[in-house]
Amino acid sequence: MSTFIARILMIAASVTHASASCAYGTHLSPRAEEGAPIEVNTFGYTGVIGPLNWAALDGGSANVLCATGKNQSPIDMVDGVFKTLTAADVKLQINDMPEGTEFENLGTTVEVVSKGGSLEVGGKTYEFKQFHFHLPSEHLDNGTSIAMEMHMVFQTPEEDIAVVGVFVDLDTGVAAAADAATAQVITPPAAKRDLGRHPHSRRGEAASAPRADSHLSAIVQLLTSSLATTTGTSSALLETVFSQVAEVASPGSVVKTQPLVMSEVVNTLLAGSFQSYSGSLTTPPCSEGVTWLVSTQKLKIQTATFEKVRSVIGFNARYPQNTPGFNNLLSVGAQSAVAAKAAAAVPAVPAAKI
Ligand SMILES: *[C@@H]1O[C@H](CO)[C@@H](O)[C@H](O)[C@H]1NC(C)=O
Repeated sequence: MSTFIARILMIAASVTHASASCAYGTHLSPRAEEGAPIEVNTFGYTGVIGPLNWAALDGGSANVLCATGKNQSPIDMVDGVFKTLTAADVKLQINDMPEGTEFENLGTTVEVVSKGGSLEVGGKTYEFKQFHFHLPSEHLDNGTSIAMEMHMVFQTPEEDIAVVGVFVDLDTGVAAAADAATAQVITPPAAKRDLGRHPHSRRGEAASAPRADSHLSAIVQLLTSSLATTTGTSSALLETVFSQVAEVASPGSVVKTQPLVMSEVVNTLLAGSFQSYSGSLTTPPCSEGVTWLVSTQKLKIQTATFEKVRSVIGFNARYPQNTPGFNNLLSVGAQSAVAAKAAAAVPAVPAAKI
């Protein structure tokens, strides 16, 4: 058992009922003041505090949607379950944090508190609250689990919620090296430096490269445009945040980050599109009506960084839910169990006597 889960169990066993109830928040609102105590969540990801039993955890009906909701998250992002929104369909602005901000361990995830920003989509304006991480990814990328997933949480004053989900994959270095070699062939030094900093805007940069040989240029353009969607180097933002993950290894701990440059992530996201659907919080109380925007762009981190984060988070992904609009898988499973029990109770047909 990971030490992370062990700690959650210890905390779950020691909290009073009153504070346990309070802890089942959506953890959307950062603490009102710096220095105020962090509410450590008491739900978990395995055993009786895990996602199969979240509905039972609050003693009442607060978490009932976890077991009955028909528009639950996460889901497998396959064709037909989402509609595509382009960068032009959203307005995304996130403040850089030159003074740093708080990075904290909520027991169920590690979270970075925002210093402002906004998302305009579907006629609503949401305010940027926080971003946190799941390991492995909660959404599946067309059937495939990714190393991690970042959730950037936005909320309107009326408490409508939108979440931008971004897959975080391992930077193996191989594709990135090939990409750098390609860039070397076509670009003058100044542009090359720029490409290094903005791995997802290569398409535009390549177009402005000198065209000494139009055939070579065309081939290179084709190569770079396909590479741009599949490769990249490690995210400076994530490497900066996670450089301190060991300092928030204990639930309830908090540390001040280095300066955070959020424009890197905004530019990356707006260079792709979003797979949008209406779902839920992936944690209790599993509230629905959440606007999900899963980015087609991935961020990358180094394998060593991933291993450090994994040793702190352990495991915190809710299992993929049923296709939106279909019965909650827990209701489906409960019915199957009843049917199987009934079938087992019917006496076996006696063997025919010879
Ligand atoms: C998912 O994969 C299938 C099979 O490779 C492909 O046909 C489909 O276009 C993919 N869909 C998405 C949303 O990537």
